[in-house]
Amino acid sequence: MSRLPVVVLISGGGTNLQAIIDAAQQDLPVDIRAVISNRPEAYGLQRAEQAGIATAVLDHREFDSREAFDQALAARIDEYQPALVLLAGFMRILTPDFVRHYQGRMLNIHPSLLPKFQGLHTHQRALDAGEKEHGASIHFVTEELDGGPVILQARVPVLADDDADRLAARVLEKEHIIYPLAVRWFAEGRLALNDAGQMILDGRVLSAPLDLAQVSR
Ligand code: GAR
Repeated sequence: MSRLPVVVLISGGGTNLQAIIDAAQQDLPVDIRAVISNRPEAYGLQRAEQAGIATAVLDHREFDSREAFDQALAARIDEYQPALVLLAGFMRILTPDFVRHYQGRMLNIHPSLLPKFQGLHTHQRALDAGEKEHGASIHFVTEELDGGPVILQARVPVLADDDADRLAARVLEKEHIIYPLAVRWFAEGRLALNDAGQMILDGRVLSAPLDLAQVSR
């Protein structure tokens, strides 16, 4: 099978990036053309370099406006002609024009069971809310922040002695499973977003997120 060209956007440590690199080195049919960070110090850049993947830094602090940054970022991404753009811990709010440009071909991973806990500090907020369950979600990116159609989720229990770090680590383990899995579905042509904004998986409308516990791998 031919490999789907992909660009990954990061801001930090890049463990989700690493999970996708590792899967691509096995049998995930993607070609990671580039990893782009808005932060020069992001450790994920080193992960990419170690895997022989092209890297670029576009520091948002060097741009006058969100629009100017997003325009430059899109130009940079498009040099690599990706069929799919992956946000993997990319901590920027995106402009509507940018999101529209990648409509149906941009995925994000978010550390909560969306629609719960959009935005930041999701683990602490889940603890503060007394949640019994927490998790992570993969979704198509739309103009609504953390609001696009959710493809796949994984759940973890919240334990009595959890703090935000312990809970985050438990969620992150699941993130590293669900992101490569959703990318595989897209790369194999099984997953798409149609013009009506509906998710299609294996020819059927997916009206609710799938749960990792219920999908065969
Ligand atoms: C992950 O937990 C990801 O879900 C989260 O940032 C972390 C990045 O970790 N993303 C967001 O919060 C997006 N709003 P990583 O750099 O090790 O992949």
